Amino acid sequence: MNATTKVHAQWSSRMGFVLAATGSAVGLGNIWKFPYMVGESGGAAFVLVYLVCIFLIGLPILVSEWLLGRRGQKNPINTMRDMAEKNNASKAWVLVGISGVLGAFLILSFYSVIGGWSLAYIKDAVVNNFSDQNADGIAAIFNGLLASPAQLLVWHSVFMLLVIGIVARGVTKGLEGAANILMPALGVLLLVLVAYGATTSGFSQALSFMFSPDWSQLTGKVVLSALGHAFFTLSLGMGIMMAYGSYIGEDIDLLKTARTVVIMDTVIALAAGMAIFPIVFTEGLDLSSGPGLIFVTLPLAFGNITGGWLVGLAFFALLSFAAITSAISLLEPVVEFVEERSPLSRATSTVVSGFAAWALGLLALLSFNVLGDVLIFGLNFFDLLDQLTSKFMLPLTGLGGILFMAWHLDKESVRQELNLDIYDFSLWSLLTRYLAPIAVLVVFFTNL
Ligand code: PHE
Repeated sequence: MNATTKVHAQWSSRMGFVLAATGSAVGLGNIWKFPYMVGESGGAAFVLVYLVCIFLIGLPILVSEWLLGRRGQKNPINTMRDMAEKNNASKAWVLVGISGVLGAFLILSFYSVIGGWSLAYIKDAVVNNFSDQNADGIAAIFNGLLASPAQLLVWHSVFMLLVIGIVARGVTKGLEGAANILMPALGVLLLVLVAYGATTSGFSQALSFMFSPDWSQLTGKVVLSALGHAFFTLSLGMGIMMAYGSYIGEDIDLLKTARTVVIMDTVIALAAGMAIFPIVFTEGLDLSSGPGLIFVTLPLAFGNITGGWLVGLAFFALLSFAAITSAISLLEPVVEFVEERSPLSRATSTVVSGFAAWALGLLALLSFNVLGDVLIFGLNFFDLLDQLTSKFMLPLTGLGGILFMAWHLDKESVRQELNLDIYDFSLWSLLTRYLAPIAVLVVFFTNL
């Protein structure tokens, strides 16, 4: 069957869809990236701007992507092409789909490197490496990992192989089942860690760092990072949610479902911060230690509580699972793209795409050690891939999606599809036609 005639299967239930979308959204972005960005950006001011971005920009874009996907019933590139044609819009809209696929590919390359760190820490927990270590000992474990290209290579490769293996076996099957149990388990474990944090002396300082804003910390750069991260954490601007949308049945209420997914994603991110910052303050660690933050803080907790190795094992296993479900969703659109535009079978397309992302990931991996001094625009490869995608490609692609939805689709049909009355719909229009796009553009241009 060629892709334009492909008839999609649908999620078995609303729950299945929510789990799959949450599986894509909740991942390293929430637990690894969000806390260190909060730390680097000075705390609560960043958190509040992030929350505004999530609810006023992220949520409507999520709904737009699902809506376009459900109407298009195809992969993001063909969906955008068909929808543009049907609605007499310019062919150039297909760029939204293309840049989405490219973004997913670039993110996957470095995402797998960090997923590899998480796998490496499963091993460390199992061999009880964290027990009775002080902050210096834990930092040494992390620095040892970063300094070793061989170790990083092994874990990056294992992570990518897992992802390739799962994607090669098909779309919906692998996604629904396990997430049912494991995602809630991750949530519970985070709460346990927050409870542990609450017993430490740094807890109240951590809370005020996260929630009581010092507005002097708020710069244009901080706002752009918050905005970029809102896209990253909700998997927006990559055609991923559009692709998922093509599997949603007509009976699913997009706004309600989006609200559920966005709230779960946000709660997990905030919980991760509340688990990590008490340790940072209690131990007097560096707030701005960047991508290593969770790897030098949480193991201190695991080393200090009885049976901590088991808690550590469970934590990194669940984090790895969350990372894998997100990585699957990153590989999926790339595979579809390759499969459709080449004579390769699905399995071969998966291997080829995964291998290409793995190879690019090597540059990210080496930028933590031997290529650390190689800078492009002042950034090493890892930072370059991260910033290019989060701060440029995702916001602009997401903007494309929402503009298309708000300006090119028939308004009345959108209103009915979203189940909004006239008043709520005028609010929705105001938000999607003007407020959200203008906010993205303003943030974007003040930073250029
Ligand atoms: N949203 C995922 C996370 O927070 C990462 C991701 C980004 C997944 C983009 C898919 C697409 O970890």
